[in-house]
Amino acid sequence: MLSELKILLIDDDHDHLHDIQVILEFIGEECLSATSENWQQACQQPEHLLAIAIGTHQHYSSLSELISEIQAVSKTLPILLTGDISYSGDLPNDLQTQIVGRIENPPRYNSLLEVLHACQECRGNRHVMEDGQKPLELFRSMIGSSQAIQDVRKLIEQVANTEANVLILGESGTGKEVAARNIHYLSERSDKPFVPVNCGAIPGDLLESELFGHEKGAFTGALSARQGRFELAQGGTLFLDEIGDMPLAMQVKLLRVLQEKCFERVGSNRTIEADVRIIAATHRNLDKEVAAGNFREDLFYRLNVFPIEMPALRERQDDVPLLINELITRLEKHDRGSVRLSAGAIASLMRHDWAGNVRELANLVERLCILFPYGVVDINDLPEKYQYGDGIQAYESPALVQHIEANESQPDETEEVSATTVESFNLPKEGLNLKEFMAKLEVDYIRQALDESSGVVAKAAQRLGMRRTTLVEKMKKYKAMLN
Ligand SMILES: Nc1ncnc2c1ncn2[C@@H]1O[C@H](COP(=O)(O)OP(=O)(O)O)[C@@H](O)[C@H]1O
Ligand SMILES: [Mg+2]
Repeated sequence: MLSELKILLIDDDHDHLHDIQVILEFIGEECLSATSENWQQACQQPEHLLAIAIGTHQHYSSLSELISEIQAVSKTLPILLTGDISYSGDLPNDLQTQIVGRIENPPRYNSLLEVLHACQECRGNRHVMEDGQKPLELFRSMIGSSQAIQDVRKLIEQVANTEANVLILGESGTGKEVAARNIHYLSERSDKPFVPVNCGAIPGDLLESELFGHEKGAFTGALSARQGRFELAQGGTLFLDEIGDMPLAMQVKLLRVLQEKCFERVGSNRTIEADVRIIAATHRNLDKEVAAGNFREDLFYRLNVFPIEMPALRERQDDVPLLINELITRLEKHDRGSVRLSAGAIASLMRHDWAGNVRELANLVERLCILFPYGVVDINDLPEKYQYGDGIQAYESPALVQHIEANESQPDETEEVSATTVESFNLPKEGLNLKEFMAKLEVDYIRQALDESSGVVAKAAQRLGMRRTTLVEKMKKYKAMLN
């Protein structure tokens, strides 16, 4: 998560606010809470917020009134609706566009991650728009050397340069969007736009104008004409994410575009040609959705020309160390701190079930970076649910052995290791207590060396490039911290 950013919860229903706050904090988000009367005090630095979540708002006669006031503070801050809060279709369009999604009651883990991810993406775009900075690079490459990921890569290469529609399936956080962007960048359309739409996050009644655009006055609130995503993707690729959540009425309209390759803006009868390649994705089992009558069979066949199944992270545990490295590198590149993980911690993470897949891993790594800035995270430092025994079993995994060896293979241990590591250290914005930090670093490395040497001090001393007696001295000095 963009963890320095907080979520502001506005809710006059104290119990509801408390419930949502507990859940968000549980998954690592920091929250500020406020009532609809005093929220502005908590919103004085909107640049420090990830999103505003709106619940009961008695101080306002309508939702649009509250949103207008939020817009007076920031026009780009993502807004989430919580619980039963809904808006009638007459919310003006410019107010609607800021609403990114909904936190359900009770929240479901995956959809909560999705909606927070959507907020992050909005914030990322906002940074591009407002200060020309690049957002955290989410989709550079598809990391992994497991057979499962190699198979996916092969499929992507095969299909990229065709015009075939692609359907990407897989659990949330498995990299469906990464795959979609890879297909686009490997295709002849790569110099044209890649336009993503999250069909699940955009309320049903807005989806049509979002996809096809609208003319001025097409509906209340359509104050000006607007291009839809199909037009924006002209010549490029349209990524219909969470297609399984598209309402049936929209499915019919989409099918028509796929068949006839043309569409009209809402409120217009001028036909526009669509030269757009479609990549769709969903975490749902579409066969089941078709059987249950929630998804049109004809549309399913249109989309399912070339299915690609993204493997769950638990099915490619060997990629966990590689992914951790990549995720840390991304954070370092964006000056968001750094962290190292001990072999035991990595081994433990390889045994985790990863319900949220790579996204969950990315969130964890980012959290560790904040909790242990520039430190070494051992298995006991991991949140409890990620701790699996002593991690010994996974030591046998070839990928882990490779990872450890890669880290060990830096020539002439101590000097080189510290030199390379220190190079990548940036002084955190808030500064740090150098003495404490160095002590902790020393203790962490000593602990690791001892662990790896099964407590044989001479061996550990060798690993640390120091004399045995020096290590014994240090162990005495740090006795309390080492135990
Ligand atoms: N194979 C991978 N290599 C690198 N990063 C990945 C990979 N798979 C997923 N990610 C990262 O995990 C997060 C979730 O990926 P995403 O494509 O949005 O998943 P999905 O669309 O399946 O929910 C993103 O930050 C993405 O960059
Ligand atoms: Mg996705």
